[in-house]
Amino acid sequence: MNSKILDILYASSDYVSGETISESLGVSRTAVWKHINMLKKERYQILSVSNKGYKLIKENLPLNEYEVKRYYDGNMNLIYMNEVESTNTTAKSIASELTKTTLVMAGIQNKGRGRLGKEFSSDNDKGIWTSFIFKPEMEPAKATIFTLAASVAVCKTLKEKCHIDAKIKWPNDIIVNNKKICGILTEMSSEMDKVNYIVVGIGINLLQTEFESTIKEVATSVFLATKQKYERGLLIGSLCYNMDEIYSDIQNNELSKIIDEWKHFSMTIGREVRVIKAHEEFYGIVKDIDDAGRLILEEKSGKIEVFNAGEVSIRGIMGYA
Ligand code: BTN
Repeated sequence: MNSKILDILYASSDYVSGETISESLGVSRTAVWKHINMLKKERYQILSVSNKGYKLIKENLPLNEYEVKRYYDGNMNLIYMNEVESTNTTAKSIASELTKTTLVMAGIQNKGRGRLGKEFSSDNDKGIWTSFIFKPEMEPAKATIFTLAASVAVCKTLKEKCHIDAKIKWPNDIIVNNKKICGILTEMSSEMDKVNYIVVGIGINLLQTEFESTIKEVATSVFLATKQKYERGLLIGSLCYNMDEIYSDIQNNELSKIIDEWKHFSMTIGREVRVIKAHEEFYGIVKDIDDAGRLILEEKSGKIEVFNAGEVSIRGIMGYA
Protein backbone atom coordinates (compact mmCIF):
# COMPACT_ATOMS: atom_id res chain seq x y z
CA MET A 1 0.00 0.00 0.00
CA ASN A 2 2.75 2.49 0.94
CA SER A 3 4.48 1.90 -2.37
CA LYS A 4 1.21 2.40 -4.28
CA ILE A 5 0.69 5.74 -2.53
CA LEU A 6 4.27 6.70 -3.36
CA ASP A 7 3.65 5.78 -7.03
CA ILE A 8 0.74 8.24 -7.08
CA LEU A 9 2.61 11.02 -5.26
CA TYR A 10 5.71 10.64 -7.46
CA ALA A 11 3.55 10.82 -10.60
CA SER A 12 2.28 14.29 -9.66
CA SER A 13 4.20 17.54 -9.32
CA ASP A 14 1.29 19.07 -7.39
CA TYR A 15 -1.01 18.14 -4.50
CA VAL A 16 -3.08 14.98 -4.88
CA SER A 17 -6.35 14.87 -2.91
CA GLY A 18 -7.01 12.16 -0.34
CA GLU A 19 -10.16 11.37 -2.31
CA THR A 20 -8.23 10.75 -5.55
CA ILE A 21 -5.81 8.43 -3.74
CA SER A 22 -8.56 6.56 -1.87
CA GLU A 23 -10.58 6.08 -5.07
CA SER A 24 -7.68 4.88 -7.17
CA LEU A 25 -6.60 2.38 -4.49
CA GLY A 26 -10.09 1.37 -3.38
CA VAL A 27 -9.50 2.18 0.31
CA SER A 28 -10.96 4.71 2.76
CA ARG A 29 -9.54 8.22 3.18
CA THR A 30 -8.69 7.34 6.79
CA ALA A 31 -6.59 4.44 5.52
CA VAL A 32 -4.80 6.82 3.13
CA TRP A 33 -4.14 9.24 6.00
CA LYS A 34 -2.71 6.40 8.15
CA HIS A 35 -0.37 5.29 5.39
CA ILE A 36 0.74 8.87 4.71
CA ASN A 37 1.69 9.08 8.39
CA MET A 38 3.66 5.84 8.09
CA LEU A 39 5.53 7.28 5.12
CA LYS A 40 6.32 10.42 7.12
CA LYS A 41 7.76 8.18 9.86
CA GLU A 42 9.93 6.59 7.16
CA ARG A 43 11.32 10.10 6.60
CA TYR A 44 9.39 11.08 3.49
CA GLN A 45 8.57 14.78 3.52
CA ILE A 46 4.88 14.98 2.59
CA LEU A 47 2.97 18.26 2.79
CA SER A 48 -0.67 17.85 3.90
CA VAL A 49 -3.01 20.78 3.25
CA SER A 50 -6.77 20.61 3.84
CA ASN A 51 -8.83 20.97 0.64
CA LYS A 52 -5.70 20.26 -1.43
CA GLY A 53 -4.41 16.91 -0.25
CA TYR A 54 -0.85 15.58 -0.17
CA LYS A 55 2.36 16.57 -1.94
CA LEU A 56 5.67 14.72 -1.82
CA ILE A 57 8.88 16.77 -1.59
CA LYS A 58 11.16 14.96 -4.04
CA GLU A 59 14.48 15.78 -2.46
CA ASN A 60 16.42 14.61 0.62
CA LEU A 61 14.63 11.31 0.13
CA PRO A 62 15.05 8.42 2.55
CA LEU A 63 16.73 5.21 1.44
CA ASN A 64 14.75 1.96 1.20
CA GLU A 65 14.03 -0.81 -1.31
CA TYR A 66 11.36 1.31 -3.08
CA GLU A 67 13.81 4.18 -3.67
CA VAL A 68 16.30 1.82 -5.34
CA LYS A 69 13.61 0.07 -7.42
CA ARG A 70 12.67 3.46 -8.90
CA TYR A 71 16.00 3.23 -10.75
CA TYR A 72 16.70 -0.51 -10.91
CA ASP A 73 14.39 -3.20 -12.21
CA GLY A 74 16.91 -6.02 -12.50
CA ASN A 75 16.90 -9.40 -10.78
CA MET A 76 18.84 -8.71 -7.63
CA ASN A 77 17.19 -9.06 -4.18
CA LEU A 78 17.26 -5.78 -2.26
CA ILE A 79 17.32 -5.62 1.55
CA TYR A 80 17.35 -2.32 3.46
CA MET A 81 17.94 -1.85 7.20
CA ASN A 82 17.98 1.46 9.08
CA GLU A 83 20.98 0.63 11.25
CA VAL A 84 23.40 -2.30 11.33
CA GLU A 85 26.87 -2.94 12.72
CA SER A 86 28.22 -3.52 9.24
CA THR A 87 26.41 -4.46 6.05
CA ASN A 88 29.23 -6.97 5.36
CA THR A 89 28.54 -8.65 8.70
CA THR A 90 24.78 -8.75 8.01
CA ALA A 91 25.42 -10.03 4.49
CA LYS A 92 27.66 -12.84 5.78
CA SER A 93 25.04 -13.86 8.35
CA ILE A 94 22.33 -14.39 5.69
CA ALA A 95 24.46 -15.49 2.72
CA SER A 96 24.09 -19.25 3.19
CA GLU A 97 20.27 -19.05 2.99
CA LEU A 98 20.27 -17.17 -0.34
CA THR A 99 20.14 -18.43 -3.88
CA LYS A 100 20.02 -15.09 -5.75
CA THR A 101 22.48 -12.21 -5.88
CA THR A 102 21.44 -9.89 -3.05
CA LEU A 103 22.24 -6.37 -1.96
CA VAL A 104 22.17 -5.38 1.72
CA MET A 105 21.90 -1.61 2.29
CA ALA A 106 21.92 0.36 5.53
CA GLY A 107 21.14 3.91 6.60
CA ILE A 108 23.84 3.83 9.28
CA GLN A 109 26.66 1.42 10.16
CA ASN A 110 27.74 1.64 13.78
CA LYS A 111 30.77 -0.65 13.28
CA GLY A 112 31.75 -0.17 9.64
CA ARG A 113 34.82 -2.20 8.74
CA GLY A 114 37.67 -1.47 6.32
CA ARG A 115 40.54 -3.50 4.90
CA LEU A 116 43.32 -4.84 7.10
CA GLY A 117 41.11 -4.70 10.23
CA LYS A 118 40.67 -0.93 10.13
CA GLU A 119 37.47 0.94 11.04
CA PHE A 120 35.47 2.55 8.26
CA SER A 121 33.71 5.78 9.21
CA SER A 122 30.03 5.27 8.35
CA ASP A 123 28.15 6.06 11.56
CA ASN A 124 25.90 8.52 9.72
CA ASP A 125 23.23 8.43 7.00
CA LYS A 126 25.22 10.58 4.59
CA GLY A 127 26.78 7.77 2.62
CA ILE A 128 26.08 4.66 0.62
CA TRP A 129 26.78 1.65 2.83
CA THR A 130 26.08 -1.52 0.89
CA SER A 131 27.18 -5.13 0.51
CA PHE A 132 26.55 -7.36 -2.52
CA ILE A 133 26.30 -11.11 -1.95
CA PHE A 134 27.34 -13.34 -4.87
CA LYS A 135 27.34 -17.11 -5.13
CA PRO A 136 29.52 -17.85 -8.14
CA GLU A 137 30.62 -21.27 -9.29
CA MET A 138 34.35 -20.66 -9.32
CA GLU A 139 37.61 -21.63 -7.68
CA PRO A 140 38.43 -19.57 -4.59
CA ALA A 141 41.78 -18.49 -6.12
CA LYS A 142 39.97 -16.55 -8.84
CA ALA A 143 37.74 -14.59 -6.46
CA THR A 144 40.04 -11.53 -6.32
CA ILE A 145 38.44 -10.45 -9.59
CA PHE A 146 35.38 -9.35 -7.56
CA THR A 147 37.35 -6.57 -5.89
CA LEU A 148 38.62 -5.27 -9.23
CA ALA A 149 35.14 -5.60 -10.74
CA ALA A 150 33.52 -3.62 -7.92
CA SER A 151 36.07 -0.80 -8.33
CA VAL A 152 35.20 -0.57 -12.02
CA ALA A 153 31.45 -0.59 -11.27
CA VAL A 154 31.83 2.27 -8.76
CA CYS A 155 33.91 4.39 -11.20
CA LYS A 156 31.31 3.86 -13.92
CA THR A 157 28.45 4.86 -11.61
CA LEU A 158 30.24 8.02 -10.45
CA LYS A 159 30.96 8.91 -14.08
CA GLU A 160 27.48 8.12 -15.44
CA LYS A 161 25.40 9.71 -12.68
CA CYS A 162 27.63 12.42 -11.14
CA HIS A 163 30.07 13.18 -14.02
CA ILE A 164 32.97 12.54 -11.67
CA ASP A 165 36.28 11.28 -13.08
CA ALA A 166 37.13 8.84 -10.33
CA LYS A 167 40.32 6.79 -10.35
CA ILE A 168 41.22 3.48 -8.72
CA LYS A 169 44.11 3.35 -6.31
CA TRP A 170 45.14 -0.28 -6.17
CA PRO A 171 43.58 -2.46 -5.02
CA ASN A 172 40.23 -0.83 -4.39
CA ASP A 173 40.20 2.71 -3.06
CA ILE A 174 38.30 5.07 -5.30
CA ILE A 175 39.96 8.46 -5.50
CA VAL A 176 38.71 11.89 -6.56
CA ASN A 177 40.91 14.99 -6.40
CA ASN A 178 43.61 12.92 -4.67
CA LYS A 179 41.24 11.98 -1.81
CA LYS A 180 39.32 8.80 -1.03
CA ILE A 181 35.62 8.88 -1.92
CA CYS A 182 34.92 5.14 -1.64
CA GLY A 183 36.36 2.01 -0.08
CA ILE A 184 35.67 -1.62 -0.92
CA LEU A 185 35.96 -4.64 1.36
CA THR A 186 35.62 -8.10 -0.20
CA GLU A 187 35.16 -11.13 2.04
CA MET A 188 34.77 -14.76 1.05
CA SER A 189 33.64 -18.06 2.52
CA SER A 190 35.01 -21.08 0.66
CA GLU A 191 35.97 -24.75 0.72
CA MET A 192 39.24 -25.99 -0.82
CA ASP A 193 37.84 -25.96 -4.36
CA LYS A 194 34.50 -24.16 -4.10
CA VAL A 195 33.30 -20.67 -3.22
CA ASN A 196 30.33 -20.65 -0.82
CA TYR A 197 29.76 -16.92 -1.15
CA ILE A 198 31.51 -13.64 -1.79
CA VAL A 199 30.49 -10.42 -0.04
CA VAL A 200 31.58 -7.19 -1.71
CA GLY A 201 31.09 -4.24 0.66
CA ILE A 202 31.07 -0.79 -0.93
CA GLY A 203 31.11 2.44 1.07
CA ILE A 204 30.73 5.69 -0.89
CA ASN A 205 30.92 9.07 0.85
CA LEU A 206 28.00 10.98 -0.59
CA LEU A 207 26.66 13.96 1.34
CA GLN A 208 29.36 14.61 3.94
CA THR A 209 30.53 18.22 4.13
CA GLU A 210 33.28 17.44 6.64
CA PHE A 211 35.08 14.45 8.13
CA GLU A 212 36.45 13.55 11.54
CA SER A 213 40.01 14.71 12.21
CA THR A 214 41.61 11.27 11.62
CA ILE A 215 40.52 11.12 7.97
CA LYS A 216 39.98 14.82 7.21
CA GLU A 217 43.09 15.14 5.07
CA VAL A 218 42.45 12.04 2.98
CA ALA A 219 38.66 11.80 2.55
CA THR A 220 36.19 13.47 0.23
CA SER A 221 32.53 13.02 -0.76
CA VAL A 222 30.41 13.29 -3.90
CA PHE A 223 28.93 16.51 -2.49
CA LEU A 224 32.37 18.04 -1.86
CA ALA A 225 33.49 17.06 -5.37
CA THR A 226 30.38 18.28 -7.24
CA LYS A 227 28.49 20.64 -4.87
CA GLN A 228 25.39 18.61 -5.74
CA LYS A 229 23.17 16.39 -3.61
CA TYR A 230 22.51 13.10 -5.36
CA GLU A 231 19.89 10.70 -4.00
CA ARG A 232 21.20 7.41 -2.62
CA GLY A 233 18.53 5.44 -4.50
CA LEU A 234 19.72 6.81 -7.86
CA LEU A 235 23.36 5.89 -7.27
CA ILE A 236 22.62 2.48 -5.75
CA GLY A 237 20.29 1.67 -8.68
CA SER A 238 23.07 2.49 -11.13
CA LEU A 239 25.58 0.51 -9.06
CA CYS A 240 23.28 -2.53 -9.19
CA TYR A 241 23.14 -2.36 -13.01
CA ASN A 242 26.91 -1.97 -13.26
CA MET A 243 27.49 -4.85 -10.83
CA ASP A 244 25.01 -7.07 -12.74
CA GLU A 245 26.86 -6.34 -15.98
CA ILE A 246 30.32 -7.00 -14.61
CA TYR A 247 29.12 -10.12 -12.76
CA SER A 248 27.91 -11.52 -16.06
CA ASP A 249 31.41 -10.81 -17.48
CA ILE A 250 32.83 -12.81 -14.56
CA GLN A 251 30.42 -15.68 -15.19
CA ASN A 252 31.31 -15.66 -18.91
CA ASN A 253 34.98 -15.82 -17.91
CA GLU A 254 35.72 -12.48 -19.61
CA LEU A 255 38.25 -11.61 -16.94
CA SER A 256 40.67 -9.83 -19.26
CA LYS A 257 37.89 -7.39 -20.19
CA ILE A 258 37.51 -6.51 -16.50
CA ILE A 259 41.27 -6.15 -16.03
CA ASP A 260 41.41 -3.81 -19.07
CA GLU A 261 38.57 -1.70 -17.64
CA TRP A 262 40.32 -1.65 -14.28
CA LYS A 263 43.53 -0.44 -15.95
CA HIS A 264 41.54 2.28 -17.75
CA PHE A 265 40.44 3.71 -14.39
CA SER A 266 43.72 2.98 -12.57
CA MET A 267 45.83 5.81 -11.16
CA THR A 268 48.41 3.39 -9.80
CA ILE A 269 50.09 1.90 -12.87
CA GLY A 270 53.21 3.86 -13.80
CA ARG A 271 53.35 5.70 -10.46
CA GLU A 272 56.12 5.84 -7.91
CA VAL A 273 54.75 4.40 -4.67
CA ARG A 274 55.61 3.15 -1.20
CA VAL A 275 54.19 -0.31 -0.41
CA ILE A 276 53.59 -1.00 3.28
CA LYS A 277 53.61 -4.70 4.20
CA ALA A 278 53.45 -5.46 7.94
CA HIS A 279 56.71 -3.84 9.17
CA GLU A 280 58.41 -3.66 5.80
CA GLU A 281 58.32 -0.89 3.18
CA PHE A 282 59.15 -1.13 -0.53
CA TYR A 283 59.69 1.81 -2.91
CA GLY A 284 59.43 1.65 -6.67
CA ILE A 285 57.39 2.12 -9.83
CA VAL A 286 54.19 0.14 -10.35
CA LYS A 287 54.70 -1.71 -13.64
CA ASP A 288 51.35 -3.48 -13.90
CA ILE A 289 48.74 -5.63 -12.22
CA ASP A 290 48.56 -9.28 -13.27
CA ASP A 291 45.51 -11.37 -14.15
CA ALA A 292 45.06 -12.30 -10.49
CA GLY A 293 44.93 -8.59 -9.56
CA ARG A 294 48.39 -8.64 -7.92
CA LEU A 295 50.55 -5.50 -7.96
CA ILE A 296 53.87 -5.73 -9.81
CA LEU A 297 56.43 -3.30 -8.44
CA GLU A 298 59.87 -2.56 -9.88
CA GLU A 299 62.21 -1.43 -7.13
CA LYS A 300 64.99 1.09 -7.81
CA SER A 301 67.45 -1.82 -7.98
CA GLY A 302 65.41 -3.30 -10.83
CA LYS A 303 64.14 -6.13 -8.63
CA ILE A 304 60.51 -7.10 -9.26
CA GLU A 305 58.21 -7.64 -6.24
CA VAL A 306 54.64 -8.98 -6.49
CA PHE A 307 52.03 -8.15 -3.84
CA ASN A 308 48.59 -9.57 -3.02
CA ALA A 309 45.86 -7.06 -2.21
CA GLY A 310 45.04 -8.64 1.14
CA GLU A 311 48.44 -8.01 2.70
CA VAL A 312 49.55 -4.47 1.85
CA SER A 313 48.54 -0.86 1.49
CA ILE A 314 50.22 1.67 -0.77
CA ARG A 315 50.91 5.40 -0.63
CA GLY A 316 51.98 7.82 -3.34
CA ILE A 317 55.38 9.32 -2.74
CA MET A 318 53.83 12.80 -2.39
CA GLY A 319 50.89 11.86 -0.12
CA TYR A 320 47.93 9.53 0.35
CA ALA A 321 47.04 8.84 -3.27
C1 BTN B 1 38.40 0.26 3.10
O1 BTN B 1 38.44 1.41 2.67
O2 BTN B 1 39.34 -0.20 3.76
C2 BTN B 1 37.21 -0.58 2.81
C3 BTN B 1 35.95 0.07 3.31
C4 BTN B 1 34.71 -0.72 3.02
C5 BTN B 1 33.49 -0.06 3.58
C6 BTN B 1 32.22 -0.76 3.22
S1 BTN B 1 30.80 0.14 3.73
C7 BTN B 1 29.79 -1.22 3.43
C8 BTN B 1 30.54 -2.44 3.88
N1 BTN B 1 30.35 -2.67 5.28
C9 BTN B 1 31.46 -2.55 5.98
O3 BTN B 1 31.56 -2.69 7.21
N2 BTN B 1 32.48 -2.23 5.17
C10 BTN B 1 32.05 -2.15 3.80
